[in-house]
Amino acid sequence: MPKLGVNIDHVATLRQARKGVLPDPVYAAYLCEKAGADSIVAHLREDRRHIQDQDILLLRKNIKTKLNLEMSIALEIVKIACRIKPYQATLVPEKRKELTTEGGLDVAANLKKVAAVIKKLEKKGIRVSLFIDPEKKQIDASRKAGAKIIELHTGRYAEAKNNQEKNKFLKQIESAVSYARSGKLTVNAGHGIDYANAKDVAAIGGIEELNIGYSIICKSLYVGLFKAVKEMKELIR
Ligand code: PXP
Repeated sequence: MPKLGVNIDHVATLRQARKGVLPDPVYAAYLCEKAGADSIVAHLREDRRHIQDQDILLLRKNIKTKLNLEMSIALEIVKIACRIKPYQATLVPEKRKELTTEGGLDVAANLKKVAAVIKKLEKKGIRVSLFIDPEKKQIDASRKAGAKIIELHTGRYAEAKNNQEKNKFLKQIESAVSYARSGKLTVNAGHGIDYANAKDVAAIGGIEELNIGYSIICKSLYVGLFKAVKEMKELIR
């Protein structure tokens, strides 16, 4: 059964709507952990759209599970990660105008740069995961760059328009999982996973952790965060 990492970025999105202190991502993380989250994911974007530097500091100090810091490979952010030392860093691509992370990191095209960032972070004792599209080319490049962990982008599957497309993309994820595992990589997955599709992704087998944010935070408005996380955990089980 995959573990559940809960992404709390959108708790901070709501707080930033008024630039106040509520809702508090650290308290949200506490509730997620109480409900069974195995790790807490937060993305410190270069534009600081939601999570702020102080949030990362406080999360690092206060959470009881594991902090998975999503981050770009920009020097400024790498420096912050090296200082704060989260349990894990997940390297993602970042564009200023995107609504959310739109695709995987193009490791094949940025091999040297990614390899250097992995080295820098690992030197500080931080585990590093690369968020990539479920493609052989990117898996091979990730191994070449020295990655031990990857997170497969499930967005294309989640956004598929019909069942035929859904099946096609689910199969693509399935083969990517087994290809990556045969190369001794630890495989996580995430993006666009919700209460309707989580079961199918969890059933693939061989996935270490699912990282889920938006659907859980949305549901929490109706049922509360504790219940929203608990329900997702049960679905995955
Ligand atoms: N994993 C990664 C690497 C992401 O960038 C995101 C989105 O921030 C997620 C998982 C979670 O995606 P969602 O919010 O669609 O569940």
